[in-house]
Amino acid sequence: MVQWLKDAVFYEIYPNSFMDSNGDGYGDFKGITQKIPYIKSLGCNAVWLNPHYKSDFFDGGYDVVDYFKCSERFGTEADFDAMLETFHANGIKLILDLVPGHTSENNADFLKSAENVPNDMYDRFVWTKGEWEFPEGYRFISGRHNRFGNYMVNFFSTQPALNYGFKEITHPEWQLPYTHPECMKTREWLKSVMRFWLKRGADGFRVDMADSLVKNDDDKSATSEIWRDISDMVKREFPNAVLISEWSSPRAVHAGFDVDFMLDHHGNAYNTLVRYEEAGKTSYFNPNGAGNAEEFADKFANWLKENENLGYIGIITCNHDTPRLAPFYDEDSLKIIQATLMMLPGVPFVYYGDEIGIKYVKGMPSVECGFARTGTRTPMQWNSKKNAGFSTADKTFLPVPDDCKPNVEEEEKDGNSLLNTLRRTIALRHEYASQITSFDFEILHAKGSEPLAFRRGVLTVFVNPLKKPQTIKRFQVGELLYNIGDAPSVTSEITLAPLSFAVFKAQ
Ligand code: NOJ
Repeated sequence: MVQWLKDAVFYEIYPNSFMDSNGDGYGDFKGITQKIPYIKSLGCNAVWLNPHYKSDFFDGGYDVVDYFKCSERFGTEADFDAMLETFHANGIKLILDLVPGHTSENNADFLKSAENVPNDMYDRFVWTKGEWEFPEGYRFISGRHNRFGNYMVNFFSTQPALNYGFKEITHPEWQLPYTHPECMKTREWLKSVMRFWLKRGADGFRVDMADSLVKNDDDKSATSEIWRDISDMVKREFPNAVLISEWSSPRAVHAGFDVDFMLDHHGNAYNTLVRYEEAGKTSYFNPNGAGNAEEFADKFANWLKENENLGYIGIITCNHDTPRLAPFYDEDSLKIIQATLMMLPGVPFVYYGDEIGIKYVKGMPSVECGFARTGTRTPMQWNSKKNAGFSTADKTFLPVPDDCKPNVEEEEKDGNSLLNTLRRTIALRHEYASQITSFDFEILHAKGSEPLAFRRGVLTVFVNPLKKPQTIKRFQVGELLYNIGDAPSVTSEITLAPLSFAVFKAQ
């Protein structure tokens, strides 16, 4: 496993929304570069940048027009390189978003494949043989181009599916097997995109919809075979580069990924911990206490076991597709939730703005097909000035709250703020991360909404999610290293203060 991941704490940046340096209302590379000292001050030593490629922005940049060019919205090629260099000069790795499954409908390769004469892009995308064919069980677009056929899409209708082939062939007239030479060319093209950015200095990729390559591949064995091939290439040619998948299944690390996100999928460990409410259930961290720690503990431990010695679980505070936890939790809960996420085994990802508790804006009108995700992509709030210091423009990509609250400037001033608490937790994580492998993990106590206790190497972690004190049986704990909320009292039992978190170190 790539060494630097052991101590990595990522910061996710949605480039539209982080910092606008030229007053056009959109965030940009120069703006990000200006804020690198801030990112470093958090203790984050790696950044995941959402798509920065030339795009039509019909899906927030996940509709790539040119995989080898930066979007002019974010600045010039030189601005990108300067940003990358500054990250590296500050000891911060930069991973890019890779969109392997689909392009934009205005991608030149797609437009060439849509011409009505066979050419070298003819099979790069999935087309039926005739314009009146609408195979059931697939999503095809018809009537947009003069080619005698309809094309398959991978996500929105603006995102034609690249052709990595099919595992089970049900319609031989238009489906190619995934080992077909034309499908192998798609795979080689993807490798060329990856080589291009890795040679330019990127430290790896977060791979969008990684499980979506081969179609009719229910057990994902063919898709996994492709990723193992690609991962072999990356490990051989760029041994320090990392591959992080949006897959959310232990299958991903078996397919060669270094990290796979545990996303907010209904009923999984992450969901039961913090986001169960949406389904009429109660999360473990619900401060009023009807949550269920066992459900989290069993699911998390099983997932970890399946990943053992292969790759990490990516643990998110949120991401650009998911409602932020604020305002569903207040600041005291957010502090202990973030601390728990930072101390779980895996690679943590802080979504920009979560460190200050920026709120999800429910009902925000959709922009660039963000739909309900739009309210989680609002501009970073730096201070109390115009647009919270994000931009000098009169109209910004998305609106900023009138009171500019919360913001970094104010959070900086308060030693006990969410921001400063997270900084301290990240520092603690760094201090011990290199000594503790991700798989040295044991759940000590998980029962209903009682305190959750787990051991990681020499550290024992306790969290009380409720607004009232709770007592559990005594464990061998050692010295108290760190606490949020009042310190626990350790007698013949351990009593945890309301909404508190504590880490002990074995002597
Ligand atoms: C997952 C990305 O995170 C999301 O934002 C995007 O819309 C889809 N994949 C399609 O690329």
